[in-house]
Amino acid sequence: MKLTKLTFAVTAAVVAGGVTFAAQAVDGVTFKIVDGTIPESLTGKSGDPVNGKKVVVGRKKGNCLACHIMPIPEEQFHGLTGPDLHGVADRMDEAELRMRIVDPKVVSFDTMMPSFYRTGQHRVLEKFQGKTILSAQEVEDVIAYLMTLKDES
Ligand code: HEC
Repeated sequence: MKLTKLTFAVTAAVVAGGVTFAAQAVDGVTFKIVDGTIPESLTGKSGDPVNGKKVVVGRKKGNCLACHIMPIPEEQFHGLTGPDLHGVADRMDEAELRMRIVDPKVVSFDTMMPSFYRTGQHRVLEKFQGKTILSAQEVEDVIAYLMTLKDES
């Protein structure tokens, strides 16, 4: 536990100091943070947007609608804590989205948004302690779905 926190503190310091490179291993997957983004797929492949939408909607996994409005009208409740995600693919690229899902605290230290691919978080259900909320594949599937959210105009 302590070690995880320490690792995170060091990473944050490195990013804040303007160094553009940090490698992290979570769950056996190593990834690089470059300028507050994660350019490479965690699985080495692109994700499945259809499954990504399921993960986003699922209350036990992503539960993104608890905090975000998204173009999913068939779901009734959409929260207002985070920004509206309509057209998010026009504002952010894949590498930026990956950072936001894996560990948004690297780019926004005080954010309420959970880190979906980091272990050792506070305020997580016991069953998630020592585990990531999403698997590497689920992270990639969510990103593939978010990349479909372009403004129609
Ligand atoms: C507990 C609330 C909460 C949950 C759950 C949550 N988010 Fe967020 N999210 C936020 C907040 C708040 C922000 C605003 C950025 C910040 O705080 O720095 C944000 C920002 C974002 C952004 C950046 C958008 C922009 O325009 O800057 C993306 C993309 C995003 N969230 C995607 C997701 C996805 C996908 C999920 C589900 C896997 C999710 N979020 C779950 C609260 C949440």
